[in-house]
Amino acid sequence: MKIVKTVEEIRNQVSEWRKEGFSVGFVPTMGYLHEGHASLIKKSSENNDRTVVSVFVNPMQFGANEDLDSYPRDIEHDSKIVEESGGDIIFNPEPDEMYKNGFSSFVDMTVLTQELCGLSRPVHFRGVCTVVTKLFNIVKPDRAYFGQKDAQQLAVIKHMVRDLNIDIEIIGCPIVREENGLAKSSRNTYLSDEEKKSALILSKTIFMGIDMVKNGERDCNIILDAMKKNIESEPLAKIDYVKIVDLDTMQMIEKIDRPALCAMAVYIGKTRLIDNFFIEQD
Ligand code: PAF
Repeated sequence: MKIVKTVEEIRNQVSEWRKEGFSVGFVPTMGYLHEGHASLIKKSSENNDRTVVSVFVNPMQFGANEDLDSYPRDIEHDSKIVEESGGDIIFNPEPDEMYKNGFSSFVDMTVLTQELCGLSRPVHFRGVCTVVTKLFNIVKPDRAYFGQKDAQQLAVIKHMVRDLNIDIEIIGCPIVREENGLAKSSRNTYLSDEEKKSALILSKTIFMGIDMVKNGERDCNIILDAMKKNIESEPLAKIDYVKIVDLDTMQMIEKIDRPALCAMAVYIGKTRLIDNFFIEQD
């Protein structure tokens, strides 16, 4: 697998492909790839002639007390997954390649980021929007692929692309789960065996919420109370948030009378995990 470290190298490769008339798909990641990422890379390689995967642990999207230093990194493992999934090249820059001395321009969003992860991680989406804009400008793909596990991130990126007239199609792909239901995440590697068992409370509660909606419940407080009670029954779990929001505005709603997102962030020990489900309109 070809791995390039500089903006110049990835730009040269993509422009060679463009000369040959190839379409280009892009999967931005922070590495430590798992089956969730693999599904995005596979989708991109089905839909495009060439696929670029970026592996960059973006310092700007981590808060001061978050896990930037301990975030798992293993480029050899990543390059195997990219190869097996049909990707063509990895862009793996160092932080000083992305953020040169004196870097001082940012992309931020005033809507969609006030609730959910935006509330508990105040600098997060400014970091995500800035790095994704930079990566889009560097790679200039036709299409970019994002997982629905980060549902708020997906909504933010779609909105940003629309607001800033970025000519890239954004494609969301379904959550990939372990057989036991746990949503795949690079952060699952932080969990001890005992914590892994406790972490199943997230997906069990998600499935419970899905059933309540399927059975006709439309009152968000009733659904959320039941979901929170279920999570609180797990001694190692501590709720950051469990909320139902309007899918377009990411603002909390009382009643499910429009397309909505039910999303949660829960600490299992020190590890913060997220999960969610979409609620279609009847
Ligand atoms: O979802 C992620 O892994 C990151 O937020 C992203 C989109 C690669 C930006 O750093």
